[in-house]
Amino acid sequence: MLYIGIDLGTSACKFLLVDEAGQVQNTVTKEYPLSFPHPGWSEQDPTLWWQACLDGVPELLSGFDAGQVAGIGVGGQMHGLVALDAADRVLRPAILWNDGRTAAEVEYLNDTIGRDKLSAWTGNIAFAGFTAPKLLWMRKNEPQLFAQIAKIMLPKDYLVYRMTGVHATDYSDASGMLLLDVAHKRWSIEMLALCGLREDQMPALFESYAPVGTLSTAAAAALSLPGNVVVCAGAGDNAAAAIGTGTVGEGRCNISLGTSGTVFISSEQFRVDPNNALHAFAHADGGFHLMGCMLSAASCNKWWMEDILHDGDYAAAQEAIAPEKLGCNHVFYLPYLMGERSPINDTNARAVFLGMTMDTTRADMTQAMLEGVAFALRDSVEVARSLGLDISRSTLCGGGSRSPLWRTILANVLGIPLDLPATEQGPGYGAALLAMVACGRGGSAAQIARDMLHIRETVQSDPALTALYDARYAEYKQIYPACRPLFASLAGHVHV
Ligand code: XUL
Repeated sequence: MLYIGIDLGTSACKFLLVDEAGQVQNTVTKEYPLSFPHPGWSEQDPTLWWQACLDGVPELLSGFDAGQVAGIGVGGQMHGLVALDAADRVLRPAILWNDGRTAAEVEYLNDTIGRDKLSAWTGNIAFAGFTAPKLLWMRKNEPQLFAQIAKIMLPKDYLVYRMTGVHATDYSDASGMLLLDVAHKRWSIEMLALCGLREDQMPALFESYAPVGTLSTAAAAALSLPGNVVVCAGAGDNAAAAIGTGTVGEGRCNISLGTSGTVFISSEQFRVDPNNALHAFAHADGGFHLMGCMLSAASCNKWWMEDILHDGDYAAAQEAIAPEKLGCNHVFYLPYLMGERSPINDTNARAVFLGMTMDTTRADMTQAMLEGVAFALRDSVEVARSLGLDISRSTLCGGGSRSPLWRTILANVLGIPLDLPATEQGPGYGAALLAMVACGRGGSAAQIARDMLHIRETVQSDPALTALYDARYAEYKQIYPACRPLFASLAGHVHV
């Protein structure tokens, strides 16, 4: 049998065809645009995601027997607000995870309602990208549209809906709405009331590996698949990536160096960071996890190379960085192109290059950008360590993990070995494994995730280089606090 894993990303949808043994037989990527209608806003039209499936799935199956496909799983960009009217039409472009328009709503939730209450109801506090503040924003700024909402859901749930006709979500993704009582895996009555929502406007809740239904007749025809293909609830992309990298059970870590950068720590028990800097979410294996998320990780590299330097040759730009320069760069970079989530929770934060002199080269600045992202990931790792969690090695996935230089920098900034799984496409692979479980292949999600993990390479850290980076990190840590008041006053001058 064959399984389709879909990774509904921010810049592209990736499709993986996986066989019973967990071997990836084919991959297809369909890109789509992201729109930034105002500084700090980030939106996407959900119909683009479905169009990507209509184009991508038949192409994925070309040369394969579609009759062998047993199941589909989707892992998707988290937190995006998809709002449907009573006829299931999309009411407005989805407001994405990296959208920063809700600073006022976040302040209201965290300061007026109060962090303690939010944390007690949901396990989390408000961050700009989370879904609940976006609903408050929509109620205030688009009241006519808000009044028409019949159902809300998350991005990957829209694909599951188009495939099956069922309004469903899973616990891992629902955790990022700030509407779920994560510890008890049920909608928070308090948060629904606060956002002016009824429970019938919410999708039905499932475990990630549970079957939601089979393809509708129309979807089967449109995707060139048989009608009996099972669609599972799927997961938020980070939980799906954790399944795809064997990050299950107690205390394992996966780092994703994708558009966003995340540090994901699996946990069997529900656990909250007392300062709520790390998110306390449900996991796709039926357990829970803590996660730090930085908003601009590999997207800093894309911005720097393509938008600023107009240079698509990433490898050549990195080859220009001499190995003896590692740990000794005089330039620093703060990676806050979209504000920042973990751990600083500051929508006003902005990217900064600091420390250039007349002899600074383009290679120094490229290096600073790669290092700045690694330092920002270390910020979340340090929070986890301060909670007593042992982060002594991690898997690494995401597009940025393809760069040998970037993974060397990261391993040494963190001072830990990084294991590279055979497939770097964590979310799509994890989603395919969830589909296997839904189809009754046998074994729990955690067991299948462990069985399918193959490490192709481990990047070791070097104590001497780690010591140099420790000193650089101590300097880097001082930049944001120094810039913070300026970020706040500059934000007052940006008219959106
Ligand atoms: C996680 C988060 C991002 C998106 C990226 O909280 O916002 O990792 O899921 O797709």
